[in-house]
Parts: sequence; structure tokens; C-alpha cells
Amino acid sequence: MKTVRVKDKDFSLYMSEATIVERVKEVASKIDADYRDSKPLFLVVLNGSFVFAADLLRNIDFPCEISFIKMSSYQGTSSTGKVKQLLGLNESIEGRTVIIVEDIIDTGYTMQELVNLLNEKNPEQVVITALFVKPNNIKVPLNIDYKCFEIENDFIVGYGLDYDGYGRNLSDIYKVVE
Ligand code: IMP
Ligand code: MG
Repeated sequence: MKTVRVKDKDFSLYMSEATIVERVKEVASKIDADYRDSKPLFLVVLNGSFVFAADLLRNIDFPCEISFIKMSSYQGTSSTGKVKQLLGLNESIEGRTVIIVEDIIDTGYTMQELVNLLNEKNPEQVVITALFVKPNNIKVPLNIDYKCFEIENDFIVGYGLDYDGYGRNLSDIYKVVE
């Protein structure tokens, strides 16, 4: 079994790039059929989604805009603790269909915050696309419109996903060896 070391942990091969890309193409063709006429704005959530987005969006066959955002979290001054905000959303999304492109939904808190922040800007609709979802870990109700794979609660790296900043450049997906 192929293994790699990323920083201080060992990871074993979990899913090949070919398997991922085949499924990403399937999902892209569904999005292509469903949103062909809505002139959507694809919003790619950095950093982890850059490889997924590159494969997904090259299989979208209608004119569309693509933009990139980042969520920044920091300790707020109020008792609510963590505050998140959007970095890099320069387009107006009012009245538009926004399709979020996200690498992985774990607890779902990040996605929930993102959807709330976008909804404040009065889009027509917000659509969620995720490469991976960990259904056994989701803590909040989320309507995930397109998911490529449901996985167990294992920690994975590669294909854009990182462990402490490393491993994003691995072509395949690896899971941590406990
Ligand atoms: P959530 O808010 O718990 O859904 O976490 C989402 C974020 O946690 C993702 O955008 C990733 O950055 C990170 N994350 C969650 N699970 C993994 C994993 O297995 N590998 C790498 N990053 C992960
Ligand atoms: Mg992420």
C-alpha cells in the first residue's frame, strides 16, 4: 500500500486522482445541465478547493464567471468568540445565482457561516458543491446540492487538501494512518 509522510504523520493511499476526476466530471455535467441558463457566479473557496475547482470548472461548458474567496476567522471582542468574514468577494452578488465550490464539509460550521454571509448580500440563490462530505460529523443542517463523495471521519490530504499547510500538491488523496 502506497504511503507518504506529510510533516509528522504517515498517510496511506485512499483515492486515486483518476477516480476523483471521473466523479468530478459526472457532477460537472449535472451542474452544467441544471444551471446552464442562470449565468451563475462560481465562488471557489480557497485554499483547499483550487485543484477540485480546476477539474470541475474545465468541465462546465457554458459561459460563467469564476471568483475566489477566503474565509478569515479571528477572535472577536464580544463573547460570541469566533467571527468569520469574507475576503476577496469583489463582485456584487445581488440577484445572482452563486455556486460555492468547496473542498470538504466536516462539521459544516464553515459552510454555514459562508452561506449566511452570502445571504446577507441578497443573492437569487446559493448553491453548494462539495468534493467531500463527512456525513457522520455534520453538526448543522445544510442543504448540500452537489457532493462528489461521502467519506468516513478520517483526516485526508492531497488534491488540494492540506495537513498543516502541506500535502496539497499530492495528486491522489491519502488518509492518515492512526
Ligand atoms: P468544517 O467547518 O468543520 O466543516 O471544516 C471545514 C474545513 O476544515 C475545510 O474547509 C478544511 O479546510 C478543513 N478540513 C476538514 N476535514 C479535513 C480533512 O480531512 N483534511 C483536510 N482539511 C480538512
Ligand atoms: Mg476549506
